[in-house]
Amino acid sequence: MVERWWRDAVIYQVYPRSFADSDGDGMGDLPGITGRLPRLKELGVDAVWLSPFYPSPQKDGGYDVADYRGVDERFGDLGDADKLIGEAHDLGLKVIVDLVPNHTSSEHEWFRAALAAGPGSPERDRYIFREGRGPDGALPPNSWTSMFGGSAWQRVPDGQWYLHLFDVSQPDLDWGNRSVRDEFLDILRFWLDRGVDGFRVDVAHGLVKEEDLPEWDVPLAILGGLSLGGLAPVGPPPPMWDQEGVHEIYREWRRVLDEYEGGRILVAEAWVQPAERLARYVRPDEMHQAFNFMYLSAPWRPADLRAVINESLAANDEVGAPTTWVLSNHDVIRHATRLGYPVERTRLHGIGPDDPQPDVGLGLRRARAATLQMLALPGSAYLYQGEELGLPEHTTMPHEYRRDPARPRSGHTVVGRDGCRVPIPWEADAPSYGFGPSDRSWLPQPAVWAEYALDRQQGVPGSTWELYRAALASRRSHGLGSGTIAWQQAPDHALAFRNGDVLVLTNFGAAPVDLPAGATVLLASEPLDADGRVPTDVTVWALG
Ligand code: NOJ
Repeated sequence: MVERWWRDAVIYQVYPRSFADSDGDGMGDLPGITGRLPRLKELGVDAVWLSPFYPSPQKDGGYDVADYRGVDERFGDLGDADKLIGEAHDLGLKVIVDLVPNHTSSEHEWFRAALAAGPGSPERDRYIFREGRGPDGALPPNSWTSMFGGSAWQRVPDGQWYLHLFDVSQPDLDWGNRSVRDEFLDILRFWLDRGVDGFRVDVAHGLVKEEDLPEWDVPLAILGGLSLGGLAPVGPPPPMWDQEGVHEIYREWRRVLDEYEGGRILVAEAWVQPAERLARYVRPDEMHQAFNFMYLSAPWRPADLRAVINESLAANDEVGAPTTWVLSNHDVIRHATRLGYPVERTRLHGIGPDDPQPDVGLGLRRARAATLQMLALPGSAYLYQGEELGLPEHTTMPHEYRRDPARPRSGHTVVGRDGCRVPIPWEADAPSYGFGPSDRSWLPQPAVWAEYALDRQQGVPGSTWELYRAALASRRSHGLGSGTIAWQQAPDHALAFRNGDVLVLTNFGAAPVDLPAGATVLLASEPLDADGRVPTDVTVWALG
C-alpha cells in the first residue's frame, strides 16, 4: 500500500545550527537534535525537516553545499545522521532533509575543477559561465541581479563570468547538463538508501533558466521588501524563475522516489504565484507538496486570509495535492513578531535595533490565533523551531553579530535573516538557556528568552507550548488535516469555518464575536470574555 502520511502531516523545521548543541561549541549539531527528538514527539508533530547539515563553508547557513553526501564536522558525521534518522523512526517521526540543487558552494569539487579547467571545458559546462559584454568583456553578461543584492555575475581571473543568483559563493548549476542531472539522481538515492523520508527542495523554481539568458532589469534583491524569491509577479515569469523545464526534472526525481517504499516525498520551496502556478509543482507525477508562501505573506485581515485559503485549496484540489500551510521559517520574520506591527506595515525580512520595534504582546496574541487557524485547515502544516514557544524574532541584535550574506551584499541596506535564527531556549536557568552545555551560542540570545524556555511552559496551562500540544492532539483526533472546510456566517471582522465537527472562528476586529448558541469550546488561543464571547485577535475551536 502506498503510504500517504504526508497529506495531513505536521512537519517541524529544525535549523541545525540553532536547535540544540551537544558539545558546547555554541553551534547546534546532529547529536543535539537526536537528544531532543523526544520533545518533538511530546509536542505531537509527525515529521522533522532538517535544514542543510552538509559540509559547507557556511557562507549562507549551509545553503552553500560543498559535498552533498556528507555531514559538516561542525554538526557531526554520517554516523550521527544515521542515528538521528533511526531514533526518529523509532519514535514514529519521519525525517525530511534539505536538498540544494540550484547552486553548489564555490568550494564544491566541481566548481574548483571548473575554475581550474578553464573556458570551454566540460567542467565549466556544469555551471553557467559566459563571456562578458563590452570592451574586453569587462561588463557582466546580462543585467540580472543576485537575490542578496548586487550583480548576479562574478568574473574569474581568466575573464569569464559565472552566474550566482544568490551569494558569490553559490554558483548556479547548469541543469541543461546531463551530468548534473545524473549526479542529483545519485544524491537522492544516497539519502533515500539511508532512510530519509523526503527532501525539501531549495529554490525549486530556479533550476532552469530561459535559453540565452535574456535581459531582466527588475532587481531581484528584494529581501528588504515583501518576499524572498520575489513571488514572481503575476504574468509571464522572469527568465530565471518558474520555467517550464523544471517540471521535467521533478518528474524524473519522482520516478526515483517511487521506487522506494514508505511514502518518500518531495517538497518544493518555490516562490511562485498565483496558486495555480504553484500547483503545477505538485501534479500527480511531480512533487508531493509545495510551501504556501501566499498564506505566510497574507496580511492579518479576514478578507485576505479567506481569499488565500480559498485559492490555495482550489488550486491544489485541481491537481489532487494536499495544500500546505506555513507561518514562519528561517528566511522570514517570525510570525510572533511580524504580527506585532500594524497590518499595513507588515514586512517579511529583517528588523534591526534602529527600526521601529514591534508590539510583542500583540504579536504573540495574534500569532497564537494565527497558528490555531492554520492548524485547523486541511492539508499539511509546517512549524518552525521555537514558534511552539511563542518565540519572537531577535529584533535588537547588534549588527556586528549578523551573518546573513544578504547584509554585506546589499551594501548593508538589508538587515538580513539572523533575527529568526537565534539558538532556541530550552531551560530558563541553564547556560545558553539550555541550548547547549556551555554559555556559548553562535548568535546572541536576548535575556528575555528565559521567559520563553520550554521548562517554563511545560505543564503550564495557557502556555504557548501547551496550546500547540493541545492543538496538535485535537487536530489529530478530529481528523482536521484530512477534512474539508465550509465557510460559516460571521461578522465582517471575523472568519468562521467548519472542518468536520469543529467550528473554527477567528476574530480580527475590536468587537467581540458570539459563538453559536450551545457551542462548547474545545480550544481557544486566549480566554473568552466574561460573556463567553470571542475577543479580538483570538481563534476558537468549538464543538456543536
Ligand atoms: C532558500 C533558503 O531557504 C535560503 O535560506 C537560502 O538563502 C536560499 N534558498 C539560497 O539557497
